[in-house]
Amino acid sequence: MSSAKSKPTKKQTSDHSAALSATYKPSAEFSKKARIGSMAAYEKLYKSSIEKPEKFWGSEAKELHWQKPFSKVLEWKCPDAKWFTGGKINVAENCVDRHAKGPRANKAAIIFEGEPGDTRTITYAQLHREVCQFANVLLKRGVKAKDRVLIYMPMIPEAAVAMLACARIGAVHNVVFGGFASEAILDRLEDSGATAIITADGGWRRGKIIPLKPAVDEALKKYSKVKNIFVVNRTGNEVSMKAKRDLWWHEEMASASAKHEPKGFDSEHPLFILYTSGSTGKPKGILHTSGGYLTGTYSTCKYIFDMRDEDVYWCTADVGWITGHSYIVYGPLANGATQVMYEGAPNQPDFGRFWKMIEQHRVSIFYTAPTAIRAFIKAGDEFPEKYDLSSLRLLGSVGEPINPEAWHWYHEKIGGGRCPIVDTWWQTETGAILISPIPGATSCIPGTATRPFFGIDAAILDDAGNECPPNVDGRLVIRKPWPSMTRTIYGDKARFKKTYFSDYPGLYTAGDGARRDKKGNFWIIGRLDDVLNVSGHRLGTAEIESALVAHPAVAEAAVVGRPHDLKGQAVAAFVTLKIGYEASAQLENELRNHVGHVIGAIAKPDDIYFTPGLPKTRSGKIIRRLLKELVTIGTISGNITTLDDITVIDHLKILLKK
Ligand code: WT7
Repeated sequence: MSSAKSKPTKKQTSDHSAALSATYKPSAEFSKKARIGSMAAYEKLYKSSIEKPEKFWGSEAKELHWQKPFSKVLEWKCPDAKWFTGGKINVAENCVDRHAKGPRANKAAIIFEGEPGDTRTITYAQLHREVCQFANVLLKRGVKAKDRVLIYMPMIPEAAVAMLACARIGAVHNVVFGGFASEAILDRLEDSGATAIITADGGWRRGKIIPLKPAVDEALKKYSKVKNIFVVNRTGNEVSMKAKRDLWWHEEMASASAKHEPKGFDSEHPLFILYTSGSTGKPKGILHTSGGYLTGTYSTCKYIFDMRDEDVYWCTADVGWITGHSYIVYGPLANGATQVMYEGAPNQPDFGRFWKMIEQHRVSIFYTAPTAIRAFIKAGDEFPEKYDLSSLRLLGSVGEPINPEAWHWYHEKIGGGRCPIVDTWWQTETGAILISPIPGATSCIPGTATRPFFGIDAAILDDAGNECPPNVDGRLVIRKPWPSMTRTIYGDKARFKKTYFSDYPGLYTAGDGARRDKKGNFWIIGRLDDVLNVSGHRLGTAEIESALVAHPAVAEAAVVGRPHDLKGQAVAAFVTLKIGYEASAQLENELRNHVGHVIGAIAKPDDIYFTPGLPKTRSGKIIRRLLKELVTIGTISGNITTLDDITVIDHLKILLKK
């Protein structure tokens, strides 16, 4: 690896965002080898991909293996998209068999490292064997195409095997993040109607075993449709196994054949449901389908991560989130990549763990989140400085806007000043990255995800639906359909249409505020709805509020986000108590644990304020905007004429000064 540095050029510009930062051009060496090696090449392909999106996406899709070729690239009748109709495809065959049956057979697909330090390398041939075996296990136990299977696993290779085995037989997986609690599992079981569960005895996190099976058992006390639970033996801790229903993964696999012919499914066959938070009500079951989703994740991995056979790629996300689906399982494997998968915490045994792993496995492409980077900055430079990070050639960021301080640290301390950073904007709903630098072409500027990917017609509109001029804030929309877009909210087409396609007729609204600078770079500001972004994870204020009011002491609750150095946003909860209950540190603690129990530890409020009243309109609607101003700037600047009871604000101001 050469030490050629990309040169920052300070730009004197009136664009206020850009003025904060320098522009980093990709090095000549990187550009020379890249698929898209200059901005002119990007502009040319982007222009033609927008003029003829079906031509661009059709040719990307043809790089995959179709059992029957598609006859039409797109049928679009808003909000219904059908991509690659007439085509038959098996997603798992594309991710596994295609490589296992060619020169990549003995190439590492997954280099796994457990938190305790155990390692396992799985080649494409071995992955093929395991996926076929587990597909046969599922079939033998009666799981069929379109059945829903809930997956609740630690970050171990079996999680990917389970997902791919479902895909292989056309079953629809629903991965639930291992940090979620039993009630979150129950909600998802009920909403999806799942009939099988794949889990583990536990996983390792910060030196401890985190049990998983008890939360599944708890959820199943109130849900009876599950016929079987498959349990991976990862940690060896004791779990209760119900006869006939609960089956050990290794016992089932021991007798399963490794022969399985992948059947081709319709391109629009459902692939998975993944729940994500919205501004109201319960989490939404975002549905993704087969051919389009795979085309989107495959193509973005190829161009944005510039994946090559000689690369070692590592995405530090969890398979419980969309990033794990698209950029650990489907995208990289569809590209035949070699990747590192890690089970545990970034600071186990200390904050050098990631850097040690990069050195050991010679990682060349590294994809992580700003919240992790900020935690590393706080931990100190001595950790990365201890390790040889010269194998890295490309860095990525996802989950929230990356603040310039974190960007510069990542660029210098991790990337040695030589690696482009792709700041990738996308969502659970978009399935794949929509806005990002193309690393050999785009000049990176800290804080902007830069330009749309090929075929993506992104724009920023004002309330009236007009395009905003440069540097004016508006709503981010996507004006043309793209293959990996969500097809529906599972079981709720009306909510799907209302949430994403009703602000502007025919256009997808992302729910993010953004502005463009004069050069056309997109600066994402953040969510416009009542959705928080805590450590890059989406949490609905409504979900946390409903967990709080489910506690016997709570009469009413309002939740807002406030800025937080490490997490991006922290959760602040305002709570009024029922008569007979008194505010205390003990109750505060109890409420925090209660939210942890209902949703999961990530949703626990950072601050809880007990208040006799909440600011409301005369019609009784809580005005969260005022609470947000209070926790963010400590005072109220906006209009309060709609307030029912002005004294509430004075009380809250005193409360916050404490
Ligand atoms: C929301 C989507 C995309 C996978 C992880 C999160 C925010 C995501 C960026 C970025 C600024 C970003 C947006 C978006 N977001 N990436 N590079 N720059 N903001 O997926 O849970 O569906 O959340 O995360 O607000 O709407 P998600």
